[in-house]
Parts: sequence; structure tokens; C-alpha cells
Amino acid sequence: MTAGSVFTFRAYKFRINDFSLVAAVYEFVASGFCKVRQLLSTLVGNLTKQKFRVPKMNAIADCPTENELISKAKSGFQELFPGENPSIIASAPGRVNLIGEHTDYNDGFVLPMALPMTTVVIGNKAAVTDKCTVYTLSDAVGSNRQIIFTTPSIESELKPGEPKWGNYVKGVVANFPFKPLPAFNAVIISSVPLGGGLSSSASLEVAMYTFLESLTCVRATDLKQKALACQKAEHDYAGMPCGIMDQFISTMAEQGKALLIDCESMQGIYVPLSDPNVVVLITNSNIRHELTGSEYPTRKRQCMEAAAIMKKKSLRSASMEDLNTNKDAMSDVVFKRARHVIGEIERTQQAAKALQQSNYVEFGKLMVQSHNSLQNDYEVSCAELDELVAAALECEGVLGSRMTGGGFGGCTVTLLYAKYVQDVVNYITNKYSGNATFYIATASSGAHEIKI
Ligand code: GLA
Repeated sequence: MTAGSVFTFRAYKFRINDFSLVAAVYEFVASGFCKVRQLLSTLVGNLTKQKFRVPKMNAIADCPTENELISKAKSGFQELFPGENPSIIASAPGRVNLIGEHTDYNDGFVLPMALPMTTVVIGNKAAVTDKCTVYTLSDAVGSNRQIIFTTPSIESELKPGEPKWGNYVKGVVANFPFKPLPAFNAVIISSVPLGGGLSSSASLEVAMYTFLESLTCVRATDLKQKALACQKAEHDYAGMPCGIMDQFISTMAEQGKALLIDCESMQGIYVPLSDPNVVVLITNSNIRHELTGSEYPTRKRQCMEAAAIMKKKSLRSASMEDLNTNKDAMSDVVFKRARHVIGEIERTQQAAKALQQSNYVEFGKLMVQSHNSLQNDYEVSCAELDELVAAALECEGVLGSRMTGGGFGGCTVTLLYAKYVQDVVNYITNKYSGNATFYIATASSGAHEIKI
């Protein structure tokens, strides 16, 4: 039985002892079928699958604050570069995408928000060397924590290599418009889980770019160019042909707002998301299937193939009618991929409208449709993500739930009424076959420099 259920049960017991039996029974029934089903399902789960197991930990994870990260990074820097004082601090957030999945590289719409989880880069100009030394404090990268390189010039290009995390840094350095860059020393620290689909890589790229802006005093006048330079870093140095969503939101996010991005015109519209009655809950499946590497470019190719068959520049300009008319000219798989994208572009616009009107019920429905389409047509979900979404949808107070990010593991995003959060977390924890981590996400601000 979950902690939430125990609490509920005790509350009723207390009332019964208090001779308020009628009121208690009435309230219990009135609290609805959903809650009873939730309770029964948890009980059955515990009695069968989990065999009287001690309930799993269901804590909502604490995310270190930006100040905590900065103070750790400062101490790290002073240890690694004795006698030097860092003079530059830059920070850029990870993101969660609320809806609009695999639409960005089809010129479609996406609706992400920035997270309080962030990547901080701290450092200074190198005083005694022409080499850049960058060190990461992230445990998740293993033991290969340091990269040393010479700033690029026409004669010597910066080349990607090992360790992999270093390629995000090198890619941004290579794409930074001001040359020659002065050599620098830097330490990186991040609270964005690596490989969890919350855009740890874009947050590193954008934080690095922001660091270089401060280092050179050459700041992007057009933030789109900054996002594009970071995206190019990921394409060229990490070999991931991603869309623009992650770098765009990490650069341009505003606190308390999601951002509807038109990936064709590269225009964004902020949509308020700060109602205390609703919560965005992120559930990390803590699963990462290694398929992503080849599956993402394959999906992209299939979308381009569908657009070409319909004689469209991209799937953004195709309608369901166009697709149905051309059904016989394409394979079933290509048809399904395009059906997801065309439907998702439409859903994302509807969802932004619903959010603007605080119509959370409608928003939740669209999230579920999005998940189903990603599961069945785009085939980028996996058993663990489906399990988490199904468990969330069984809970009272949940408005909608879906996988978020590229897929094949990573996280789900769930919209729910705030007062049900702990019950929902307890329920999912007990239902899920793996070990999930939960985060409550508040829409946070984009990349910024921090004064020392
Ligand atoms: C990854 C990419 C994004 C986007 C999502 C899917 O996160 O980096 O550009 O394509 O997958 O929506």
C-alpha cells in the first residue's frame, strides 16, 4: 500500500472512531470511483506482483539550486586551477517538452518550457597558457572528466573525439562567431540528468555559448543565431541531427511561461504557465535504450520522404487530406510517420490555445493523443514509458500524460491538479516495474550570465 493510501485510510479510521461513520462513508463514496480503483489496483499490485514488498521510495527529487551549483563549481575550480579566481559564470536550463514531439525538424510547432535544472559553466581567461582546459564535475560521464584543446583558427580546426561530452564544448567553441577566441579555463556542473530526455546537451551548449559571450564581450544580438550556432555544434560535433527546439527554449525561455515555437519562421509565443493549482510532473523512467542513435535520423528521413512524395517542402505544409490522397504512393511505415507529424503539429497549436485559456482538461486530452500517436504511429515510445503513462492516467487528478523528448526511454510529463501530486507519485512508484525519479517542474528562465 502506498504512503498516500495509508494516510487516506487512517483518516477514515479516525473519523469512524469519532462516531462520524455516516459522514465518512458518504465522503468515501463521493471521493469517486477513480480513487477506489486506484486503491484497489495498488492493493492488488502489492498482493500479487509485489508480494508484500516494502513500498518503494517515492520521494520527489530535490533539484539543487543554481546558487548551490555555483558554489560547488567555484570550489571545484579553485581546486583544479589553484591560485586562479573564476570571473565568469553562465547558466542555461534543460527543458521539458509539453507537446509537439518530433515536429521541430518538420518545420512544425513545439511547446516546451525551461526547467529549474540547469548547467553552469564557470571560469576565466587562461593567464599562462594558450590552451583551453575544461573540466566537468558530472559523475555521470565517468572518469574522463577533462579536455584540453587549442582555440581553433583557420590553420587548425577543432576536431570532435573522446570523451563525448567534450564534443558539445568543442562544437560551440568552433561555432562561436568571434575569432580568435582567448584561451580559457572552465568547470562545468549540471543538475540536468544526462540522457534523460531533458536536454542536458542543449543546456551544456547554450551555457557554454553564454560563457563565451561573457569571455569575449561579444553577445548575440539575435538570440535565434545563438540557438542555431548551438544546434550546429550538436549536428557537427555530436553527430545528432536534432531540430531547433532544445537550443531555442534554453536560450529564450521566460520564467512562468511555456513557449510555443514555430520552427519554420523561428518565432516564439510565450504562454503563461504558473497556475498554482496545476503541476507539471516529470517522471524519469531511468531507462535509456541504445536505439536512439540510428532511430532519430531514420525518422527524419522517413518524414522527408513523405514530404517529397506529397511534393511539399516539409510536413508542415501537408494536410491529412494530402496524406490520404498520397497513401498508395508511400510505404505503410512512412505513412504512419507522416500521420503522427501532421496530427501532432495540429494538436500542438490546439494545446497552446487550450493553455492560453487555462483549459487544462483539453490540454490533458491532447497530451494523451500525442502519446498514443508517438507509441503507435511514430514508434518512439517503449514499454517503460507506456507503463508510466498508463499508471499516471489511472490516477485521480491527472489531466494528461505522455512521453517527452526523443523517446526510447527518458521521461514522461504529466499535467495534474496540485493537490494530488503526492498520491500520484506514490501510485506510479508502486505500479512501475522499474525505479522512477520524480521532479516537479516550474517554468524557468533561459540562459543568463551571473555576476561574480
Ligand atoms: C530531441 C531533439 C529535438 C526534438 C526531440 C523530439 O530532443 O533534440 O530537436 O526533435 O528530440 O521532439
